[in-house]
Amino acid sequence: MTRRGNMEAKVAALNEKFQDCPPAELLSWFVSEYHGKIAFSTSLGAEDQVITHLLSACKTGVSIFSLDTGRLFQETYDLMQVTRQKYDIDIDICFPDALHVENMVNSLGINLFYESIENRRLCCHIRKKEPLTRALAGKEVWITGMRREQSVTRAQARMIEWDPSLEIMKVNPLIDWSDGHVWQYIRDHKIPVNELHGKGFPSIGCLPCTRAVQPGEDVRSGRWWWESPQFKECGLHTKG
Ligand code: ADX
Ligand code: SF4
Repeated sequence: MTRRGNMEAKVAALNEKFQDCPPAELLSWFVSEYHGKIAFSTSLGAEDQVITHLLSACKTGVSIFSLDTGRLFQETYDLMQVTRQKYDIDIDICFPDALHVENMVNSLGINLFYESIENRRLCCHIRKKEPLTRALAGKEVWITGMRREQSVTRAQARMIEWDPSLEIMKVNPLIDWSDGHVWQYIRDHKIPVNELHGKGFPSIGCLPCTRAVQPGEDVRSGRWWWESPQFKECGLHTKG
């Protein structure tokens, strides 16, 4: 069997084993099984804050990192600081390659992402996907805050997946949670969240590519609002 085939069989067995397992237990199993080889990527979004809260119980063995694209909201930086202090944890910051960003913006413009889908994907690739690939080098497991209900592009996602482009096992502990469940958990545990959530921003990415939504609108409709829903992925969660 190929490596991909092997890993797909392994994740299928793990999905079976952890069916209906609460996120806290799932995380604690993975951190102990993959101690030092497991990392969590946080954008400081609501789901990510729930996972940081759960992981703060594991003092070692898991690294937490955030991809600083250089175009984030000030409120996101403020929350990074608050979260580090509240949980007494490190959140490693990963920057994009400076030369790649310079070449891109000098040839295509500082706000290139509004010009075409290709430009937007290039910007996400350089500012997010390349640093993600570096941050995950040498790791075997990648934890994310993805939820199935977030978008059409995530409707088929599983709790545990094999990412063939990054060659890593991906664990999405909140995959089945509803928006209501996330917010109830945040209130119950007094978890700090981005101030922008209270100003109509349910999903927060980079400042130029995120806007507020109206009540009742789709949670990701404020992300890359000028693009159709089937294109709204930055490449972190697309399988190559
Ligand atoms: S995105 O791909 O459209 O930007 P979204 O904002 O829904 O993703 O976040 C889904 C998950 O991707 C987050 O829970 C987090 O694990 C990861 N992620 C997204 N953006 C970042 C970032 N800037 N830094 C670290 N992780 C991120
Ligand atoms: Fe660039 Fe926008 Fe993607 Fe951020 S979300 S990396 S600014 S295209």
